[in-house]
Amino acid sequence: MTFDFDTPLSRLGTHSVKYDLRRLKFGRDDVLPLWVADMDFAAPDCVREALAARLAHPIYGYTLTPPSTHEAIMDWQWRRHGWRVEKEWISLLPGLVPALALCVQAFSRPGEGVVVQTPVYNPLFEAVERNGRRPVRNPLLWEARGHRMDFARLEADLDPDIRLLLLCSPHNPGGRVWRREELERLGEICLRHDLVVVSDEIHADLVYPGHRHLPLAAVAPELAARTVVLNSPGKTFNIAGLNTAYAICPDPALRARLHAAASTLHLEGVNLFGPVALEAAYGGGEAWLAALLDYLRGNLDRVRDHFAAHLPHIGCPLPEATFLLWLDCRALGLDASTLRQRLIDAGLGLSPGTQFGPEGSGFMRLNFALPRTGLDAALRLLGAALR
Ligand SMILES: Cc1ncc(COP(=O)(O)O)c(C=O)c1O
Repeated sequence: MTFDFDTPLSRLGTHSVKYDLRRLKFGRDDVLPLWVADMDFAAPDCVREALAARLAHPIYGYTLTPPSTHEAIMDWQWRRHGWRVEKEWISLLPGLVPALALCVQAFSRPGEGVVVQTPVYNPLFEAVERNGRRPVRNPLLWEARGHRMDFARLEADLDPDIRLLLLCSPHNPGGRVWRREELERLGEICLRHDLVVVSDEIHADLVYPGHRHLPLAAVAPELAARTVVLNSPGKTFNIAGLNTAYAICPDPALRARLHAAASTLHLEGVNLFGPVALEAAYGGGEAWLAALLDYLRGNLDRVRDHFAAHLPHIGCPLPEATFLLWLDCRALGLDASTLRQRLIDAGLGLSPGTQFGPEGSGFMRLNFALPRTGLDAALRLLGAALR
């Protein structure tokens, strides 16, 4: 089977955040957008066909989520990640970011501290702040091969007022796939300090050869009893606009707290099309996903060669997962806003590192999930901007 990731598709006229918010974000409409984490590729045919088939029935009224959706999630977690999930552990939720906020409400009280490992996808700490909890930053250490957790600082900073930790696994930005030893050590600290852990695993399927994602709850039974895993087919199959995610919570007591919080908001299901797409993707999208990962890997090789040849002073460790590069531009000696503006002036729309926490100062995040012609154009512009 062949899949076409090369042909550019115009997203103009589709109200895409990545393209249509350029003026607001960058002050001009014409930057090459390499920011929001979705891909400039068509979703797999199996997904489009399943959606078209459902669309053909002209009534879009209140709809139940069928048991087959839960089964598709259970099969996927087992096949891709070796994790046996039970049906009653799963709750469908309208997006992973809302699920994070829900978990903050369910597993902490106003005023309490919640640990986030910055720099991190900003909705993790925003979910904490916007719900009146206190973000406790546990900054990651940045090394030549990527981020590392600072366990000593975590131990030192925990206090009895902290009941919850939000993990990003694999990590965004930077694309680290946390190793078993790292997750075990983190789990052991959370056990000792009686913390609940919510693990955002939305990038779990976008892992490159040589690395293996481990769902946190599959690391050890005692960890499963205090973990909620959040996931979604949104990133993997480029269907984020369908706002369909899920929580997997093995422990009945934690699950009761999650359900109670969801019920206060009447969060009792997802939109009609999300489960259709999820089942089609998880059921028939694996060949497409393998081809996607090959293509992204090819993009990464191109990026690596370009940086080695033209921008050796920019740190660019290849991500182990995700389609996001974390560029260390600190050697340029520019402050965060000058760096950002320099890229905009060059015609590029990247995410500023500071969006992910103060540790991101001097860094920029680049989304490389686009056709090669676009990537090559981006690399040429980057070469000029960061020389
Ligand atoms: C770590 C992480 N979590 C969640 C999301 C978004 O999830 P959703 O679109 O389901 O709200 C993203 C998107 O970039 C992400 O990187």
